Amino acid sequence: MKDSYGREINYLRISVTDRCNLRCRYCMPLEKTEGTGPVLSFEELLTVVRAVLPMGITRFKITGGEPLVRQGTVDFLSELKRIPGVERVTLTTNGLLLHRDLEKLRSIGIDGINISLDTLNEQQYRRLTGIPEGKGGVSAVLDAVRASVSFGISTRLNAVLLEETKDQILKLASLAEDLPLSVRLIELMPLGPAAFERSFSPKKALALLREQYPDLSPVSREAIFEEGRRKSPYGNGPAEYYASESLKGFIGMIRAVEEPFCESCNRLRLTSGGQLKACLCYDIGIDLLPILRSGKAEGVLEKEIREAFRSAIWKKPWENCFQRADDVTEKRTMNEIGG
Ligand code: GTP
Ligand code: 5AD
Ligand code: SF4
Repeated sequence: MKDSYGREINYLRISVTDRCNLRCRYCMPLEKTEGTGPVLSFEELLTVVRAVLPMGITRFKITGGEPLVRQGTVDFLSELKRIPGVERVTLTTNGLLLHRDLEKLRSIGIDGINISLDTLNEQQYRRLTGIPEGKGGVSAVLDAVRASVSFGISTRLNAVLLEETKDQILKLASLAEDLPLSVRLIELMPLGPAAFERSFSPKKALALLREQYPDLSPVSREAIFEEGRRKSPYGNGPAEYYASESLKGFIGMIRAVEEPFCESCNRLRLTSGGQLKACLCYDIGIDLLPILRSGKAEGVLEKEIREAFRSAIWKKPWENCFQRADDVTEKRTMNEIGG
């Protein structure tokens, strides 16, 4: 379905939990309580998916919090993959529990896994994520990244650009020299605790990358359809990709603030508590929970879900407001929203 600006909305990001086994400083404050509010059941989520497929929403991202801390997430992904008409199911995770689930994720035919890793420096990783010594750290995440690639799963690494991790940009990028994966650098969005962090500009990051890889050049989106030597890196998200002869994989840039990509926005978000969000930075949306728990008969329920999606899609603004911090009305943190 198209929104009021003519953008085709075909992608739904579903957060299955606000709980997380990390406490990334920019995402979830240490004192944050988690897992206290209502959470949509997997059955309710499947009802939503079945209801919206006929509207052309056929691609789904499962996020959190950390989606793999919720029991049953992999079975849910498996159910989702089996629904006729579902085109693409991908997962965004911090990777710490991935070793446990990777085999199954491969067997259900997951269409892609994005793994968050902002630094290769162990101490810095612990400072940024709040994970104590002795628990899984950089090497555990890297093992998961390598295993995912070796299983033939389309793998992307997500690194948020911070002033304090700028020396990690080339180190992270070099992972794509030997591995056919996309290393994506994400501009920090000033939501919740991220507003107190110092971000690093994607423009400067790109300049550093160009010094290291002088032939770095944008990959056209059209190349998606030309199955050439390289497989296209493009997924459903906002990243722009770059290639170099020195890289087996790609570099991705997600510039949500400096150069918003809103004119090609294709998505809605469903929070773990059931709010259908029209845009990341505004608190505008529709609460699905009362609809899902209204006890309405099958058929009527699906119609009401579609109606709610139509009005959320209709409420989508033209663009985000991250450049005007005072206009950001979203007060929830990323772990609640789902990234
Ligand atoms: P794929 O490339 O298909 O895997 O999707 P994706 O990039 O949307 O997935 P991921 O969950 O890894 O998100 C990467 C980053 O992009 C996160 O920081 C998201 O918050 C950000 N992002 C995704 N969609 C939007 C959006 O609509 N607006 C903004 N501002 N940021 C977004
Ligand atoms: N700005 C940009 N990216 C963020 N993420 C979480 N919070 C922010 C923020 N404020 C990233 C995570 C993860 C992805 C889903 O979103 O690092 O990779
Ligand atoms: Fe879409 Fe809002 Fe994201 Fe822009 S910020 S791409 S309008 S969800």
